[in-house]
Amino acid sequence: MTFCTTCPSKLMLLGGCSTVCTTIGEAAKMWNLVVLSYGSSSPALSDRQRFPTFFRTHPSATVHNPTRIRVMQKYNWSRVAILQQAEEVFISTVEDLEVRCKDAKIEIVTRQSFLTDPTDAVRNLKRQDARIIVGLFYVNAARRVLCEIYKHQLFGKSYVWFFIGWYEDNWFESHLEEENLNCTKEQMKMAAEGHMTTEALMWNKDNEKTISGMTAGDFRVRLNQALMERGFENRSTPVGYQEAPLAYDAVWSVALALNKTMERLTDVNKSIEEFDYSNKEIADELYKANERHSVPGSVGSSCLQ
Ligand SMILES: *[C@@H]1O[C@H](CO)[C@@H](O)[C@H](O)[C@H]1NC(C)=O
Ligand SMILES: *[C@@H]1O[C@H](CO)[C@@H](O)[C@H](O)[C@H]1NC(C)=O
Ligand SMILES: *[C@@H]1O[C@H](CO)[C@@H](O)[C@H](O)[C@H]1NC(C)=O
Ligand SMILES: *[C@@H]1O[C@H](CO)[C@@H](O)[C@H](O)[C@H]1NC(C)=O
Ligand SMILES: *[C@@H]1O[C@H](CO)[C@@H](O)[C@H](O)[C@H]1NC(C)=O
Repeated sequence: MTFCTTCPSKLMLLGGCSTVCTTIGEAAKMWNLVVLSYGSSSPALSDRQRFPTFFRTHPSATVHNPTRIRVMQKYNWSRVAILQQAEEVFISTVEDLEVRCKDAKIEIVTRQSFLTDPTDAVRNLKRQDARIIVGLFYVNAARRVLCEIYKHQLFGKSYVWFFIGWYEDNWFESHLEEENLNCTKEQMKMAAEGHMTTEALMWNKDNEKTISGMTAGDFRVRLNQALMERGFENRSTPVGYQEAPLAYDAVWSVALALNKTMERLTDVNKSIEEFDYSNKEIADELYKANERHSVPGSVGSSCLQ
């Protein structure tokens, strides 16, 4: 990673998805930079040793596990299977799920993993007669999995599939041709019928006025209006719509952290303009400013973590 040396020093980095933030978050400490993410759910990012200057408004993917366990307990499902893509975000989610299953005396009968092609993994699930299956993969892999589910007839009332809830609407019937899937829309729909998803709360539920002067509802109206003006007919379709309230909170967090740091530095006759990538003192102030505040009155459900 190189930064332009003649440009003004960046004070903080705002990041999106887990893949990007894992790399940036691990390197940022070398430049005394705080990273704030609004779109990363990887549980691995909670590791303070590896990511000492990382913060996020997005909840960790492990928040779904207690819900999954509760559903399993409700229906007395005591033997479950896991199908996962071999990506760090899913691997660390599964590690957490395994611990929780053990505590709840739910047996994990098999854990199948794949890189890009789930054919063998799904076949193994069938061979082991898995019925309750927690699936953890990105959406394009999810389509491949679903097509395999169809081919092996692992759907219908004898099967329960838990999928990730943040895929876009109708994810199972789009991109079929460009991704070379050998299943029709109808087959995909059939295989997807009745699957369960869990989603984190992204919107603040109490509609109180936030620090921005808007309520969460006001923000939603403004966001939808802005999308309509930009030609999005179906407002909930653009990628990233779900994370929008968390991104809004993240930007506010940056503003509040900068404000607080500037005031603290004024007290000691210093200025934030003095920051460069070797300035540990100002970096520490920026870190503390992020650490000290949780997003006050956020539009998202987030607290800075
Ligand atoms: C789960 O098991 C308990 C105890 O065996 C039983 O009382 C309950 O009705 C079961 N629930 C379901 C949904 O089958
Ligand atoms: C696609 O599916 C058809 C019918 O289900 C099958 O005959 C064909 O071999 C499949 N092609 C590939 C590439 O899997
Ligand atoms: C918007 O969504 C509706 C219903 O889901 C669909 O019929 C319509 O084609 C969509 N419009 C666009 C522009 O994607
Ligand atoms: C920080 O925010 C407070 C409250 O809005 C404001 O009065 C103050 O001037 C801000 N500080 C700086 C350095 O901008
Ligand atoms: C603050 O710094 C300026 C410039 O470095 C200096 O002139 C001034 O005396 C300092 N004030 C205090 C209170 O230390």
